[in-house]
Amino acid sequence: MAPGVAWGEDRLVSPGMAAGSGLDNGEVRRAVDRISVLPVTPAVAVSGHLWLKLENLQPTGSFKVRGFLNAVRGLGRADLRAGIVTVSAGNAALAAAYVARMAGIGCTVVMFDSAPAAKRDGVRALGAEVLSWPRPRVLAWMAGRGWQGMPEHFVHPFADPAVMAGHGTLAVEVLDQVPGIRRLVVPVGGGGLAAGVAAVLHAAGRAVEVVGVQSSGYPLWLRTFAEGAPPALVPDTIADGTTAPYELVMHDRLRTAIDRWIEVPEADLRAGVAELALRHKVVAEGAGALAYAAAVQLADQVPTVAVISGGNIDGARLAVLVSSGN
Ligand SMILES: Cc1ncc(COP(=O)(O)O)c(C=O)c1O
Repeated sequence: MAPGVAWGEDRLVSPGMAAGSGLDNGEVRRAVDRISVLPVTPAVAVSGHLWLKLENLQPTGSFKVRGFLNAVRGLGRADLRAGIVTVSAGNAALAAAYVARMAGIGCTVVMFDSAPAAKRDGVRALGAEVLSWPRPRVLAWMAGRGWQGMPEHFVHPFADPAVMAGHGTLAVEVLDQVPGIRRLVVPVGGGGLAAGVAAVLHAAGRAVEVVGVQSSGYPLWLRTFAEGAPPALVPDTIADGTTAPYELVMHDRLRTAIDRWIEVPEADLRAGVAELALRHKVVAEGAGALAYAAAVQLADQVPTVAVISGGNIDGARLAVLVSSGN
């Protein structure tokens, strides 16, 4: 935790946390301690009213390390001995492998075989075992709770309360770094990041609007809330980090966590990756650029923090985006 970030009993006292998110005060307070070895990522002002919270600078290149570190530090001896297993589009896999290596425990990850090579290779380089499967097989494994037949302890990449509490620490830092914040914009995949930060902001009793963003190439939650049921969608987006399937347990959490949804056209997202690199000198992957692409659509002067959630993009894709802008 940053020197100067106060985290007293008084910061998290709202009953809204328990009611709205399912996270309690103690879980986030414990998470702040457990992840204190991680850097406090900068919140950089890019205009008079927009800040970028640079989670692409975390070890493993995304915010996911917050949640996994908190989850693993909370495990008992038997679970640690068994090692962990998770399922991931890529960044949760990197975070799990990194944290497992820190803790000296085993790690297995089930990944979409469409995951960018940079992510898959990174996971293997960290010593984890990768089960690389086609998307339908991964979804069937998740729906059938395939981890129950495995010896390792399963860490759900977004619905595990310890993972969400770990992600919530990002909002603790932001409140300290941008005291005048009135809006936090986050990308939404499974919804763990949004649920974690919203729990902290609501409990802090500050009037901060939480904006959830998805790409037009996979607007799962926008359509779920608009239509009342999850649509059958095949992802067609560069934001591979936000292509998690619908999870019932996240439905109510997101309903209370998110104050406003924004759908970013895929073309604007691609332009956003290029603009972040060329204008702001920030390397973001597709999902990592979603909040920025949404924030620049908002034509008001409300003090806004956009979370640049990850920077793990294949070099070839980045080259195409920065050279053509599409
Ligand atoms: C870079 C990036 N941004 C956003 C998300 C979405 O996070 P969540 O699944 O917690 O909504 C992910 C998930 O892996 C990610 O990797």
